[in-house]
Amino acid sequence: MAVTDTEVDWAALEAAAVAAMGKAYAPYSKFPVGAAALTEDGRIVSGCNVENASYGLTLCAECALVGDLHMGGGGRLRAFYCVDAKGNVLMPCGRCRQLLYEFRAPGMQLMTTQGIKTMDQVLPDAFGPDNLEENR
Ligand code: THU
Repeated sequence: MAVTDTEVDWAALEAAAVAAMGKAYAPYSKFPVGAAALTEDGRIVSGCNVENASYGLTLCAECALVGDLHMGGGGRLRAFYCVDAKGNVLMPCGRCRQLLYEFRAPGMQLMTTQGIKTMDQVLPDAFGPDNLEENR
């Protein structure tokens, strides 16, 4: 089924992202983040950021979300929502855009500070799995 065939319940994704944000472990940055996404088969997966005393080893909320996706049976992401402590929409960091790209469904949408955008808009000209095949 194409991504545009059924409506995305953005309010449900927002609620799941806010709930995930409430579980964040962010004692160093004091910047809790929650992320939620709708899978192609209709599941909602989510994650929060988990920091570490070795600051650079911080796991972004998107890392936990992708772990949730994989542990829950895999699949692809068709819509994504990320929030900060106030529940405001947060743009995924550059690394996490790459991470989300790997698991995108065709036409994946993201709620952004500028409204709904596609994965291709937030990570144009992306490097991805196809590039690895080209030079083999
Ligand atoms: N953070 C995320 O969880 N996801 C993002 O896309 C942006 C940044 C977290 C990492 C760190 O725990 C905190 O926000 C401050 O950078």
